[in-house]
Amino acid sequence: MRVTHIVGARPNFMKAAPVIRALAGKAGRQTLVHTGQHYDSNMSEVFLEQLGMPAPDVNLGVGSGSHAQQTAEIMSRLEPLLLDHRPDILIVYGDVNSTLAAALVGAKLLIPVVHVEAGLRSFDRAMPEEINRLLTDQIAEPLFTPSRDADENLLREGIAPRKIRLVGNVMIDTLVRLLPESDRHLPADLPEKYVLVTLHRPANVDEPGFLLRWLRAFGEVSRRIAVLFPMHPRTRRCVLALGPGVVPNGTFRLLDPLPYLSFLALERRAALVVTDSGGIQEETTFLGIPCLTVRENTERPVTVALGTNTLVGREPSRMLEETEKILAGRAKQGEIPPLWDGHAAGRIAAALA
Ligand code: UD1
Repeated sequence: MRVTHIVGARPNFMKAAPVIRALAGKAGRQTLVHTGQHYDSNMSEVFLEQLGMPAPDVNLGVGSGSHAQQTAEIMSRLEPLLLDHRPDILIVYGDVNSTLAAALVGAKLLIPVVHVEAGLRSFDRAMPEEINRLLTDQIAEPLFTPSRDADENLLREGIAPRKIRLVGNVMIDTLVRLLPESDRHLPADLPEKYVLVTLHRPANVDEPGFLLRWLRAFGEVSRRIAVLFPMHPRTRRCVLALGPGVVPNGTFRLLDPLPYLSFLALERRAALVVTDSGGIQEETTFLGIPCLTVRENTERPVTVALGTNTLVGREPSRMLEETEKILAGRAKQGEIPPLWDGHAAGRIAAALA
């Protein structure tokens, strides 16, 4: 069996790494294609290295652009490659533009497309990722899901039960494997107690007035406890555009995007994480760290129903209230969702075999 894996953006790498490992020796030949959606070393190369992934066989080098440009560019660069390689299956991960672009190319070349992390739905079609998720799941099979809610979403959309396999969360496989190692990557000069913040969704950072409100709110938190904010390049660009004097001083610290292991080391020691990322909602649930998600919805409801995640919406005052509660020792307790056990990729490999 010849397998081609497609990765492109930061959250893809932690999902593909365990599947590649689990298929080693089982699949005849594995090819790794990087679309180049993310290209800065600290958004891509460092992750491949730390996750112990093979160097990509091909990098399509598409870079940034509008959604249409980026998606189209990935498609037109990937098609000749797949025509040449003709893999037996194409595996796509998550919900980024690279996921949908590659799935479309594979499906039209009649190459079976496998989707890892299928079925998640925020029911918010203003999110580009929701469009990517919905469309990819229509043309991929099997659909490997991380949680029961994802199966239910797919069934509701009329997808045949035989296409759906609940395997658990592959990103947690990576976390379980690398958690012990992360200790050695703890950034220096850490405050003893801190809140860890990440923010990069267009809905939170692209509108200047809104971003400014978030920065002020984090400034307020930093008067009570240190705030560490590793910043996505998109967010940094938006913050710079606001002009000088907007970044709170004192115990508020802006950092560059962090490598996987350093971020994990920070995450597991945080008093609280405030985020709009999908993956971080899952990681904090696994680690038992309180998480406030500054979005109106989540495609990962199991992290709220079972885990430590609380949706606070895009209202800074609500985030401040919940932060106060958590710092006062009234954090919500959670449990780890079923099958988030470090063996999801093994189940995928067994199913594919
Ligand atoms: C993408 C994903 C998002 C995911 C996020 C994780 C889509 C639609 N979105 O969002 O789901 O949560 O990755 O990081 O696929 N940039 C750089 N260097 C890079 C990459 C990006 O400077 O290596 C800057 C560019 O200015 C670019 C902007 O970030 O225009 C946005 O990058 P893009 O890949 O379009 O989307 P993300 O916001 O990263």
